[in-house]
Amino acid sequence: MTATSAVPSAPAATLAALFRRNREWAARRRNEDPEFFARLARQQSPKYLWIGCADSRVPANEIVGLDPGELFVHRNIANVVVHTDFNCLSVLQFAIEVLHVEHVIVVGHYACSGIRTALAGGMVGVADNWLRHIEDVLRRHVTIFASLPSQLHEDMLCELNVLEQVRNVCRSNVVRDAWRAGKPLSVHGWVYGLADGLLKDLGWSLRQAPADLDEALSACVARLLAARRDAGGAHATRGHAHD
Ligand code: CO
Repeated sequence: MTATSAVPSAPAATLAALFRRNREWAARRRNEDPEFFARLARQQSPKYLWIGCADSRVPANEIVGLDPGELFVHRNIANVVVHTDFNCLSVLQFAIEVLHVEHVIVVGHYACSGIRTALAGGMVGVADNWLRHIEDVLRRHVTIFASLPSQLHEDMLCELNVLEQVRNVCRSNVVRDAWRAGKPLSVHGWVYGLADGLLKDLGWSLRQAPADLDEALSACVARLLAARRDAGGAHATRGHAHD
């Protein structure tokens, strides 16, 4: 590891600014609510678990206007829920069984670099292997992409990836057990638009295990495609920038 003394002065100054901003933020919060930190230190009681992309432009709490303590968050590249990812599964179990969150929300975002890279076939390094999960989503829905103009592929893959990860959340034994025990738990799929700051509900919320998860996902995909057709295809991209 690099010794502190070897850190160049410019980054050190930048980091010092972060500490200064932190002190200012803490002071501001204390001014607004003197009990704020004391209350948070005693307990957290979030009602929501957010599973989102690690992208710095998608700050979970800020987007939904929630304070610290109100949103439990797990983020990784392209908001993937892998069956054997014990990081994500541990977060899921802690959120549901200990914190008793009532909503698990998988949140993708348009113009996601992970989605874009997966579409292009990878080549960024270790993350290529992670993005194979997105390529799997692409392969599972290959007929949809064959019938869509290529400029819509990225948005469609963002949405399909969210739905597939909602399915993975629902397939986890953590969620299955919670539903079997009659816990009030819903799982949702949303997408965030970088260009307008707005969240879009993909219209697939589950309060219990459906008889056929695959069929339920296919029905949601059919609704999304129909909506895209009704919107005239190009309009459904929500006008965000493609660089
Ligand atoms: Co992303």
